[in-house]
Amino acid sequence: MTIAVLPGDGIGVEVTAAALRVLRAVRADLDYAHGDVGGAAIERHGSALPAETLALCRRSAAMLFGAVGDPRYDAPGSPRPESAILGLRKEFDLFANIRPVKQIPGLEDASSLRPELLRDLDLVVVRETTSGLYFGQPKKQFSDDGVEAAVDTMIYRRPEIERIARVAFELARERRRRVTSVDKQNVLETSRLWRRVVVAVHEEYHEVELEHMLVDTAAMQLMRDPQRFDVILTENTFGDILSDEAAMLTGSLGNLPSATFGAAQRADGRFGLYEPISGTAPDIAGKGIANPIAAILSAALLCRHSLCDEDAAARIENAVAKTIASGARTRDLARDGAPSLGTEAFTDRVMGAL
Ligand code: IPM
Ligand code: MG
Repeated sequence: MTIAVLPGDGIGVEVTAAALRVLRAVRADLDYAHGDVGGAAIERHGSALPAETLALCRRSAAMLFGAVGDPRYDAPGSPRPESAILGLRKEFDLFANIRPVKQIPGLEDASSLRPELLRDLDLVVVRETTSGLYFGQPKKQFSDDGVEAAVDTMIYRRPEIERIARVAFELARERRRRVTSVDKQNVLETSRLWRRVVVAVHEEYHEVELEHMLVDTAAMQLMRDPQRFDVILTENTFGDILSDEAAMLTGSLGNLPSATFGAAQRADGRFGLYEPISGTAPDIAGKGIANPIAAILSAALLCRHSLCDEDAAARIENAVAKTIASGARTRDLARDGAPSLGTEAFTDRVMGAL
């Protein structure tokens, strides 16, 4: 069984190496094959998602992804590193991005919110990732009667909303049975359709409680009372923004793993893409100080969902919890002036805890 390892750019390289060390320790039996994505792939192949990488992903059981993005490719007309992740989501129809936000005991004081607001924090953002503003056409810059203009299109089709709503309701059924569907229905037509379809799909899930919340209110409630949430269901752009906000509740963007699934199923596990939500962090890239927790926990999700190996997943998650409980911290998690470990030294501690 092959796992595609796609480190990409910036700290993606460092944190994916850390996650791979941990993954190899629990699953030495798999074939781990590296592929180029993002700015690194543009440099070597002229494309953010080269054909070789796509072929590798097609024959893999899952993808362990790092991060993509590089300010060097910001010039107009330049190929964009981000098209690698967007292309993978589209190519494999990976529409359901699951971002669990769970407090790691011991890190309550790393957050900028008061610890008592965070103690039992355990929510999941279910984000749609193949439609909406990210992909809608037209999408371009143009001249509007000689004035520079640009357009992005927010579009949702009923089946796209139905299938992501089902993912959220099914997940909620296994949890605290509460879905908060986030939209902007006081302004956006796509949100009005979204809300109508979510209500209709909810008919099949009476055991789950459904509430609707406007996205601005949701951003506020995540700061005011984050423990009120169980499953947050939302569209692509809102989910991108709210999941970064939710991640900071746990103390750092570097803590949050994610899994993205499509409709494709194998008998022995689901095909999926696993990535830290942190991004490339160009300011600290290459310095060896990035927090590898999100990437390591993404490897745990890969074991759970794509390998159906709950034991390996739990071992990794326990090792991270133990490492934090022992007082080890990366720089982003350490209190002002407190000592901290680099990416490798922190990963050594996780390996020890395994
Ligand atoms: C994420 C990232 C991506 C997104 C970028 C890199 C295109 O921010 O996975 O949250 O916006 O989806
Ligand atoms: Mg994001």
